[in-house]
Amino acid sequence: MRDRLLALQGEASQEIVDAPNLESLREVKVKYLGKKGEITSVLRGMGSLSAEERPVIGALANDVRSTLSTLIEETEAKLESAKMAEKLANENVDVTLPGKSISIGSLHPINAVIEEVEDIFIGMGFHIAEGPEVETDYFNFEMLNLPKNHPARDMQDSFYISPETLLRTHTSAVQVRSMIDKKGEVPVRVISPGKVYRRDDDDATHSHQFTQIEGLVVDSGVSMSELHGVLLHLIHKLFGEETEVRLRPSYFPFTEPSVEVDIFHPEKGWIEILGAGMVHPSVLEKAGYDAEKYTGFAFGIGAERIAILKYDIDDIRHFYQNDLRFIKQFKSV
Ligand code: PHE
Repeated sequence: MRDRLLALQGEASQEIVDAPNLESLREVKVKYLGKKGEITSVLRGMGSLSAEERPVIGALANDVRSTLSTLIEETEAKLESAKMAEKLANENVDVTLPGKSISIGSLHPINAVIEEVEDIFIGMGFHIAEGPEVETDYFNFEMLNLPKNHPARDMQDSFYISPETLLRTHTSAVQVRSMIDKKGEVPVRVISPGKVYRRDDDDATHSHQFTQIEGLVVDSGVSMSELHGVLLHLIHKLFGEETEVRLRPSYFPFTEPSVEVDIFHPEKGWIEILGAGMVHPSVLEKAGYDAEKYTGFAFGIGAERIAILKYDIDDIRHFYQNDLRFIKQFKSV
């Protein structure tokens, strides 16, 4: 049995050393050391040995096993590094080749305006509020002093989905929702950017869908001069400290008094950029605020109008056509 083991060790060693690759090495390992391997089958015959021989042969078998295992490991390491060397030799990387260029997108100019306005208002302690684009007649009109058949509803020709739901015509509906959410608590300081919809024939200056950013403050002692200050700050940040601003009396059913705000553009003259006013007491009352105790102001800006002036764009439709030649010009914005 001893001779058999030693002979196996010799054969196996030879086969291990000769293994041309990792696969054949694995086969040799199974052949000799596996459960059904040659060495194991020799050891099965140990039962027939005498009590003196058994430990001697057992020790020898263990020796043979561990010698072969070590040899296999060493050969495996050699074959692996040879394989890696071969792989490296074949995979020549030319580090001088130019890399793949990754094109990075940019903000749409309307989103850039929204972000800029949001930053300005966050700096003044406002929160950002959002609401649904499919709105109820109740929030879009009724709560804002625009009962059914009110002539001012014509100012905002609407897309109705059902008699009581429509695509919101302004984000003022979000202001109402914000007041109701606050349940009569002050201060309310929100701005609400979002898409709004009005029936209009699309042309260079009109779009049936556009973007508004409205703001609302409700607190005790809120005044028209605070509104004036906030709007001046906004306009100076957006268009430069030197920009001239003018307030004109106007009419909105939900504010009293109401104003429209113009800025002076060197080529285009006075241009209206937003509507604003002191929140009408009955709007406050309807939304759960005591109009004897609290006052508020609100304003609504068209984001497209701002982008058109800031970036000198001649047609509002450019914003929605998503022509990359247009969009790509705003990379640095
Ligand atoms: N909601 C008005 C509009 O869409 C704008 C506005 C908002 C005016 C707040 C005054 C106060 O025309």
